[in-house]
Amino acid sequence: MSASQDITEAGPEFCEVYAAIHAESFEGSERWSASAFRSFLEMPRTLSLIASQDNEPTGFILARLAGDEAEILTLAVSRTFRRRGVAMALLRALRNRLENLNTTQLFLEVSARNEPAKALYLAADFEKIGTRPRYYADGSDADIMIWMT
Ligand SMILES: CC(C)(COP(=O)(O)OP(=O)(O)OC[C@H]1O[C@@H](n2cnc3c(N)ncnc32)[C@H](O)[C@@H]1OP(=O)(O)O)[C@@H](O)C(=O)NCCC(=O)NCCS
Repeated sequence: MSASQDITEAGPEFCEVYAAIHAESFEGSERWSASAFRSFLEMPRTLSLIASQDNEPTGFILARLAGDEAEILTLAVSRTFRRRGVAMALLRALRNRLENLNTTQLFLEVSARNEPAKALYLAADFEKIGTRPRYYADGSDADIMIWMT
C-alpha cells in the first residue's frame, strides 16, 4: 500500500535503477538508457522522486519545471509492485512539491493505447485537453493531459 512507500528526491546516482525499472515498463525505442536518465537527472530544472519499500526501489517519476508549469517526462513502477498505489503516491508527492514551488499546471503526454496509465491519470484528476496524432513510434496518438493546482 502507498502508506509503506518511502518517497524521496533522487539524483543522477539513481540512473541505473531508473533504467532497469523503465526497461520493465516500456518496449524497444521507448526505453531510456541509464545515460539518458543521468543527463536528465543532472539538469537543474528537473525534479525526480523515487519510491521504495524496505529499501527496494519500487518506482519513480521524473518531471521538468518551466516557469509556473511542469511536465511529467516519465513515470514507471516495477512490475512486482504495481496496483499497490505506488504511482498514485508518487503523483501526490510530486504535486505537493510543485505546489510549494508555486507551479500551477502539470502536463503530460500518454499513449492513447496505454489504458493503465490513462486510468491512473484520470483517477488522479488529470483532464485530457488535446491529442498529438501518431506521436509515438508505434503509430499511437498521444493524449495531452493537465492537472491544475
Ligand atoms: C501506469 C503505472 C505507472 C501505474 O502504476 P501503479 O503503481 O500500478 O498504479 P497505482 O497502483 O498507483 O494505481 C492507481 C489507480 O490507477 C488506475 N490503474 C493503475 N493501473 C491500472 C491498470 N493496469 N488497469 C486499470 N486501472 C489502473 C486505477 O484506478 C488505480 O487505482 P486502484 O488500484 O484502486 O483501482 C504502471 O502500470 C507502469 O509503470 N506502467 C508502465 C509504464 C507506464 O505506462 N508509465 C506511464 C507512462 S505516461
